[in-house]
Amino acid sequence: MALKILLDCDPGLDDALALLLAHGDPDIDLVAVTTVGGNVSLEKTTRNALELREFLGFSDVPIAAGAGEPLSGPVKSAEHVHGEDGLGNVILPKATLTASDSHAVDLIIETLRAAPGEIHLVATGPLTNIALALRRDPSIVDLVASFTIMGGSYSRGNATPAAEFNIYADPDAAAEVFAAGWQVTMVGLDLTLQAIVDEGIVDRMHELGRLGVELIAPLATFWTNPLDDEWDGQALHDVCAVAYVARPDLFTTKPARVEVELVGEFTRGMTVVDFHSDRPNAIVPMRLDVPGFWNYVHDAWGNVQPNV
Ligand code: RIB
Ligand code: CA
Repeated sequence: MALKILLDCDPGLDDALALLLAHGDPDIDLVAVTTVGGNVSLEKTTRNALELREFLGFSDVPIAAGAGEPLSGPVKSAEHVHGEDGLGNVILPKATLTASDSHAVDLIIETLRAAPGEIHLVATGPLTNIALALRRDPSIVDLVASFTIMGGSYSRGNATPAAEFNIYADPDAAAEVFAAGWQVTMVGLDLTLQAIVDEGIVDRMHELGRLGVELIAPLATFWTNPLDDEWDGQALHDVCAVAYVARPDLFTTKPARVEVELVGEFTRGMTVVDFHSDRPNAIVPMRLDVPGFWNYVHDAWGNVQPNV
């Protein structure tokens, strides 16, 4: 029986590769996609999701657009990482199919209500849509099969020294999500920075034909960090979140209590992770079976026949 996943995302270089994984793994049934503003504007993340859907061949999967700005505070962007349009220098054919008329929050709630206990909810962007869905229907915490995010860290941030981008982009939403009463699997930077695209991984991507050469590798190598003299490649953050749902055996985890800092002048958006709490609200993947991860992802991506 395939795992049913609803993916809320902000495509985005690594979100795109997470969508590709969800579509390519025969053990995953991608039941719906919702978009949120984050890496780039909501208009662009939604356009990217629509184009990826037709290009990769999952046109039967509904896509609904959600929140374009955080619950409060200024809109953040990661265009400097993902490029002005959000997919680096990858240009896909224009989508011919449009997004659902429903709002992402409605699609999330309706999908979960229609299949109680069956849907694995995954969020790889700011958590605004998830927080709005919780406000509208708090019972969704009991309707999901599991809830996994790419976000946060128990050490340092990337958007600021303290905060990881998805949390930093909407800290209030993240705080409400972690306080909602469900168990959050927090796939944070400490884990995802183990999934680095080095030259050997790029060579393997090129083994996947045009899909690898013209889509996967360009998405996975667009951004380099000139300020990091130890830079050895992009981390495929969001791919790790989808991989955790499908292949938890590749991950070593610890329970923890996660709180989100909201008022610190220098630390707003920091995930404060207590591994010694007797009130855990999260599972935190700590270690990745790196060879196993790349073998899994490579095989799944290789199943996809793009509409070229
Ligand atoms: O910090 C990494 C996260 O921020 C990833 O989800 C990436 O897509 C960006 O949204
Ligand atoms: Ca993302």
